[in-house]
Amino acid sequence: MSRIIRQSHRWIGILFIGTVIANFIAMAFGEPPATITYAPLFPLVLMMLSGLYLFALPYLGKQKARGSDE
Ligand code: HEM
Repeated sequence: MSRIIRQSHRWIGILFIGTVIANFIAMAFGEPPATITYAPLFPLVLMMLSGLYLFALPYLGKQKARGSDE
């Protein structure tokens, strides 16, 4: 379970970076549409939730914390 969350955190991070870069590219052509401006927010919320879970893992129990790596 924690492995899946960690993998999701990793890949949604890539998606998040993609939406931020899309914002910079769109801004080069003037004011971007609201859909692009707010595109990073949804992945960011997912990152926050999965990130907080990863943060809590070591405090939830020794076995989960050890088993989470790789
Ligand atoms: C928004 C709130 C976020 C929180 C609370 C958070 C929290 C965390 C925590 C606790 C870990 C585990 C660290 C460890 O095991 O030592 C982690 C790993 C990581 N975070 Fe986040 N994070 C957040 C957002 C992001 C964002 C925006 C990105 C990238 C765009 C990101 C990229 C990563 C990556 C690549 C890892 C390593 C995952 C792996 O094990 O492969 N995080 N984060």
